[in-house]
Amino acid sequence: DIPSLAETYADYFPIGAAIEPFQTTGLKAELLKKHVNWLVAENAMKPASLQPTERNFTWENADRIVEFAKESGMEVRFHTLVWHSQVGAWFFKDAEGKPMVDETEPGKREANKKLLLERLDTHVRTIVDRYKDDIKSWDVVNEVIEPGDLDGMRASDWYKITGTDYIETAFRAAREAGGPDAKLYINDYGTDNPAKRDRLYELVKEMLDKGVPIDGVGHQTHIGIHGPSVDSIIESMRKFSELGLDNLVTELDMSIYAWNDRSDFGADIPDNVLKKQADRYRELFEAFKANKDILSGVVFWGIADDHTWLSSFPMKRTEAPLLFDKQLHAKPAFWAVVDSS
Ligand code: XIL
Repeated sequence: DIPSLAETYADYFPIGAAIEPFQTTGLKAELLKKHVNWLVAENAMKPASLQPTERNFTWENADRIVEFAKESGMEVRFHTLVWHSQVGAWFFKDAEGKPMVDETEPGKREANKKLLLERLDTHVRTIVDRYKDDIKSWDVVNEVIEPGDLDGMRASDWYKITGTDYIETAFRAAREAGGPDAKLYINDYGTDNPAKRDRLYELVKEMLDKGVPIDGVGHQTHIGIHGPSVDSIIESMRKFSELGLDNLVTELDMSIYAWNDRSDFGADIPDNVLKKQADRYRELFEAFKANKDILSGVVFWGIADDHTWLSSFPMKRTEAPLLFDKQLHAKPAFWAVVDSS
């Protein structure tokens, strides 16, 4: 019998995992109950899942995860109220069905912006209102920074139509609906990268100065066995904590390939690769523990290698980014994370 990850980390921070509704039964459910105290919906709470067409809210899959968490004594954190991906196209079309981004007439552009922000406000309030008693931690916006795009902001339809107003609207609506106890996060990947980190910092500071209710930064932390450095990950958390913000690791996994490598190990992952992964997981969790004052939770993007988004992104291939293998057995990485504590 192996130790429980969540119990091992009880004095430091909660441990979580992202799941699909079908993983709430069977062996996967048992593994989750033993090792994690937080759950996140891998897809079931994204905009397109919850409001695929206007005013047609579909709760079934999201409810299933919330119910499973309650029965099992786990908490749920929400991912994500706003994103440029997995969002219904209807959000960005005007009353005639024309894409809002194509509008050139200034008066109509203003009207479109107002309509989009109203739709966003309704989306956020309806969802937060439904789950506010069960969910206290929310990804309000996801992946809004893109240093290569216009002004360092991701050139999504949200940004093209409203500027940064959509971010402000989403946070204010979430606070009003969720009340003072709701913890509201801005979530992104690559937050260790100085260009991205600094643009995110600037945005958050500007928002806080305007009174926009942001409580913390979610660091996705999709990393690889070759990088980025643990120091750069912690340094970014330090920087945000100096603004008075909380930090969360929201989507941790560790690819067995370098980020720009398109090779495939196939069925047999070399032992030295799994060893390297274990060493890096150990180093990472040692740093997390040493910085528990600025880090309040670590969520994995999955639990076992039988189900990971990386086996189809950036290409279809063998991946093994998590602590349990395809048979749900503990990997060297699991033991590294457990004995580092
Ligand atoms: C991914 C899911 O894991 C996949 O199942 C889905 O097809 C695409 O989205 N960053 C995020 C997550 O914020 O929502 C993404 O999840 C992974 C990258």
